Amino acid sequence: MVKVLFVCLGNICRSPMAEAVFRNMVKEEGLKEQIIVDSAGTSNWHEGEPPHEGTRNKLDELSISYDGIVARQIKEDDLKTFDYIITMDDQNMNDIKDMFDINGSVVVSKLMDFVPNPKEANVPDPYYTGDFDYTYELVKEASQHLLEHIVNNHNLKG
Ligand code: 4NP
Repeated sequence: MVKVLFVCLGNICRSPMAEAVFRNMVKEEGLKEQIIVDSAGTSNWHEGEPPHEGTRNKLDELSISYDGIVARQIKEDDLKTFDYIITMDDQNMNDIKDMFDINGSVVVSKLMDFVPNPKEANVPDPYYTGDFDYTYELVKEASQHLLEHIVNNHNLKG
């Protein structure tokens, strides 16, 4: 079982979008028994809340489920539980490094680092930009590359 945790600041805009989009791709590829997907925030500001309305609207438009997604803060145990911790930007990455000792086999990477020649190095935060469409475009493309990487790295077959 491969376990993937997406991380952003608030866990209401970008990382729950990535969680829903990636889980949907995993399901479509017939890999849902082999890959577990979750998300968390570096902050606890929105603990217990559903995804932001902008993220929900985008996912509704695409008929992608976000059932059961509730904001929570990343915890030390996540670094042991998950194989991949995928951050949305440099700030999330630096915050995780400040909060925890990263050791063991966990891979901590930025989502856009899986894209060859990415348009952006960081996933822009629609909480500030208001542009959930552009964030979705980037998340979708990068998620396809991330899934390909995981499938190849772990010899998964759908
Ligand atoms: P996210 O966006 O990290 O993509 O979930 C944010 C959500 C909330 C806040 C900042 C960013 N906030 O300041 O409450």
